[in-house]
Amino acid sequence: MLIKSSDDGFIHPFSSEITARATYEGRRDMLRLMACGAAGAVLATWAARDALAQTATYQRPGKLAALAAGKSGVAGAMTMEKLTDYKDASTYNNFYEFGTDKADPAKNAHTLKTTPWTVEVEGLVRKPAKYTIEDLLKLSAQEERIYRLRCVEGWSMVIPWVGYSLSELIKRVEPLGNAKFVEFVTLADPKTMPFLGSRVLEWPYVEGLRLDEAMNPLTLLTFGMYGEVLPNQSGAPVRLVVPWKYGFKSAKSLVKIRFTEKEPPTAWNKAAAQEYGFYSNVNPNVDHPRWSQATERRIGEDGLFAKKRKTLLFNGYEAQVGQLYAGMDLKKNF
Ligand code: MTE
Repeated sequence: MLIKSSDDGFIHPFSSEITARATYEGRRDMLRLMACGAAGAVLATWAARDALAQTATYQRPGKLAALAAGKSGVAGAMTMEKLTDYKDASTYNNFYEFGTDKADPAKNAHTLKTTPWTVEVEGLVRKPAKYTIEDLLKLSAQEERIYRLRCVEGWSMVIPWVGYSLSELIKRVEPLGNAKFVEFVTLADPKTMPFLGSRVLEWPYVEGLRLDEAMNPLTLLTFGMYGEVLPNQSGAPVRLVVPWKYGFKSAKSLVKIRFTEKEPPTAWNKAAAQEYGFYSNVNPNVDHPRWSQATERRIGEDGLFAKKRKTLLFNGYEAQVGQLYAGMDLKKNF
């Protein structure tokens, strides 16, 4: 076995060093079909998503998790930690368009209409384009990546996501020299999203990254989790996962990706700039004004004696992303 495991609990593999153990249930074939890009198959499997979602019992606890995950060419894209149960990951969510209680999205997001779906890429790019979800699925091979997601509220999960690096899409559209930021705009449809009437945030939910952050191979354009297409409450049909930042940077149900010269105003920053900075890198040394960020509660470990875990700088991905912030004061640029 050639996989090296390091003290931080992560393995830092090269794709050729991982032995794939193709022992998944049949539903993994769906994402494989998507990756193959046969348009008919993609449409057929997408239509079957709800039926498949009902059968979700994916559990691969323990140390074998990363080994069974198959290949990932992205260093740091795996962790040896126990996966969060699918049930927890799909019933304890933040998706304020469907309500502010953690249980609301799973209860209410069935109204979200994910087909047909398009994502428009616009702004400072040489090749602006409107992609259907099928186009996006075909654009690059999907891989499974087991990432931690650390929410700013102090809880975390470990989830096997499926997608490909956002950089694959960015390279296609050829950003212009003056493009410095990427803005992510998500769906705001009052007909299907019951909470859009609330003023808790300004809609649509918007997030942003610096172009070099968006180009980092860890930034995942995500279509699935646990070998299935995303359930609605997790941001179907396409979302972002930025594993070294607090979860709110990982915008769900994307409809526009816009390249800009100036830092885009983002939903949480507009709502409370002192509490939610543009960068929002996971950082145990920079407290939220109302609570410490030094520890976290892993969802699924809630027993009376469950210990809190120490939060890691950049959520444990410092080797992969630390250089993006060289020379920056992370207390000021929180
Ligand atoms: N995206 C949209 N469109 N709306 C939201 O309310 N919540 C964010 C982020 N993306 C949110 C969103 C927050 S606060 C978190 S912690 C993560 O989604 C949660 O993702 P999860 O439900 O997959 O854990």
